[in-house]
Amino acid sequence: MSEQREYMARLREENNLFAVNNGRKKRACAKTYGCQQNENDTERVCGMLEECGFDFTDDEADADLVVYNTCAVRENAEQKVFGRLGILKHMKEARPDMTIALCGCMVQQEHIAERIKKTYSHVDLIFGTNALYKMPKLLYEATHKKGMTIDIEKSDGVIAEDIPTKRESKNQAWVSVMYGCNNFCTYCIVPYVRGRERSRLPEDILREVKSLAADGCTEISLLGQNVNSYGKDLKNGIDFADLLRMVNEVDGVRRVRFMTSHPKDLSDRLIDAIRDCSKVCPQLHLPFQAGSNEVLKRMNRGYTKEQYLEKIRRVKEKVPNIFLSSDVIVGFPTETKEQFEETLDVLRKVEFDRIFSFIYSKREGTPAAKLDFVLSEEEIHENFSRLLEVQNEISKRKNDAYVGRVEEVLVEGESAKDSDVLAGRCPGSQIVNFKGGRELIGKYVNVKITEAMTWSLNGILVD
Ligand code: SAH
Ligand code: SF4
Ligand code: F3S
Repeated sequence: MSEQREYMARLREENNLFAVNNGRKKRACAKTYGCQQNENDTERVCGMLEECGFDFTDDEADADLVVYNTCAVRENAEQKVFGRLGILKHMKEARPDMTIALCGCMVQQEHIAERIKKTYSHVDLIFGTNALYKMPKLLYEATHKKGMTIDIEKSDGVIAEDIPTKRESKNQAWVSVMYGCNNFCTYCIVPYVRGRERSRLPEDILREVKSLAADGCTEISLLGQNVNSYGKDLKNGIDFADLLRMVNEVDGVRRVRFMTSHPKDLSDRLIDAIRDCSKVCPQLHLPFQAGSNEVLKRMNRGYTKEQYLEKIRRVKEKVPNIFLSSDVIVGFPTETKEQFEETLDVLRKVEFDRIFSFIYSKREGTPAAKLDFVLSEEEIHENFSRLLEVQNEISKRKNDAYVGRVEEVLVEGESAKDSDVLAGRCPGSQIVNFKGGRELIGKYVNVKITEAMTWSLNGILVD
């Protein structure tokens, strides 16, 4: 990072000069197309850009620098970025001084980087997930030479600490505890674009959490592709359950959340930590992906339907009020109609509060990309609709049970721009909408739940 700090200083000097000559600072527009990890990375990109002397804007049309932090997990995430690049091409024709940068998971793939090099020559800079911390140096290069600057080197296992971070929210923060994934589920691109699992040292994580708490942040969400593997590479005997207990002790923190857990190594130690730690929210996101054992095997998930249901049983037994959510993939290539019924069976047996469902998307370079489909596209869409139907009924029923209760809600913001309705979350993470003034944002309030919808609750503020 010391080399990067030099480049940040150089860019800051240049940008100061720009500000003197133009009566305004240069403006950067940074957008995220991926998951929470990517959001957290964008906060780092913005932190570094702030050090480089940039102001920020949400509108590309006002920006001197556009940075898209991209995702590769499904094809539509990539299509969106290609669509935006088309629009940026026209903007750049009118304003050739504009700088365009792409980073993140999608561009970490060689075939994508090649495609951009060939057909999107208006892009100035491409850097992958491994090069994130090198952004200042790369941006300096990109703005001082002709042609495209590219750094998509494979993981060198480095964890850069102390990257400046510009957080979206003052009250809630994401804290990455580990990077990468070793699981190689056969449908998934993440292990290829994020490299192998590597854990941050507990002392570095705690330092970050304490400094957030000192700045008034009360809700911490610990992030990793598979937090249950946390610490395996550190050899200091500390696992994720230990880490949760340590974060639970930090003064000023009121709520701790975490994601994602992998079912194959969800331990009793972790369930006990959720139960014992007063600040750890009663919430678990435990993706099961599919209900059929045959499909789970082909996905290389490492557990059976029965083992999954047994883990859920233990979780419910120890933390009875737990908010459960999951990810589900519909239409994995070899999945048959009968096998899909097993997925519905898991939904009915577990009764998740919420699920995130996805239609399988073929990812180049993954083992599943070579498999043949059993069902037609139409049949897969039919299954997807059925899945939503089954889950919506369950989510609504589970929400109905909240009507009449008083819940502690952390107010996150206005539920829509300039409305007098606020939105916040219960400890379990249900979304609650209620009338109130903006001064309540960031505060904990009590809300009496008056009405249940499928994806949220409505309520009124009580003393
Ligand atoms: N590490 C996390 C999440 C990774 S990506 C985990 O394993 O739970 C988030 C979700 O995207 C996955 O859980 C999966 O449901 C979905 N997903 C990943 N690859 C996909 C693909 N090729 N097509 C459709 N959905 C996919
Ligand atoms: Fe992808 Fe599986 Fe790793 Fe999750 S655990 S990121 S689904 S390979
Ligand atoms: Fe996240 Fe998408 Fe990368 S889900 S890890 S941004 S591929």
